[in-house]
Amino acid sequence: MASGIFISFEGIDGAGKSTHIDGLAQTFRAQGKAVTLTREPGGTALAEKLRNLVLNDVMDAMTEALLVFAARRDHLQQVIEPALARGEVVLCDRFTDATFAYQGGGRGFDLEVLRYLEQLVQTVKLPQGAFVRQPDLTIWFDLAPDVAAQRLAGARLPDKFEAQPASFFALVRAGYQARFDASPQRFARVAAEQNRETVWQDVLASVKQRGWLI
Ligand code: TYD
Repeated sequence: MASGIFISFEGIDGAGKSTHIDGLAQTFRAQGKAVTLTREPGGTALAEKLRNLVLNDVMDAMTEALLVFAARRDHLQQVIEPALARGEVVLCDRFTDATFAYQGGGRGFDLEVLRYLEQLVQTVKLPQGAFVRQPDLTIWFDLAPDVAAQRLAGARLPDKFEAQPASFFALVRAGYQARFDASPQRFARVAAEQNRETVWQDVLASVKQRGWLI
């Protein structure tokens, strides 16, 4: 059975991941690979509705966590798993590390509960057995919160998270660091304060290193 490649992209708001996700999609396609480009929260009609609520409405951290995992369940079932089963490359702008970083780190929600939800929501049952789906690679655009804030300033009307102070993003960043420390082999940490071309070369190298691009 064909099995695709699942790559997620993470970082605090303002870390500058978007152009590199598009660049990777183009590069994979140029090498003849089918690419599904998607994002979280979102990626399905239902999950995009949940995204709107999470990004714009005030709610407690548990409600936020439950909504992002509900969106993730739908997204996995409707989009990610079918694409991987077709052997495609799935490029996902944020995944569960963002929940650990934002709801866990930023908002201080219970990490044990997040780990339970992760197991529950990401369990995939295939004919050959059940397992917990994780990205094959997570590219973490790591940037100091004060630099990210300068980049975001005046860019556009901020959503609920983008409007948070640098102290919030310091906690989010620490949340990413903890996820990195727990599974360093899954991650490529890219120093996002470098100029765009250098960041792109680092992104490309992390994928080539795994033999997925030439
Ligand atoms: P982002 O991915 O930065 O998209 P855009 O570039 O359109 O702003 O925005 C998504 C926001 O959602 C971001 O602030 C992080 C937040 N988020 C969570 O709080 N928890 C999650 O589980 C996910 C996936 C995202």
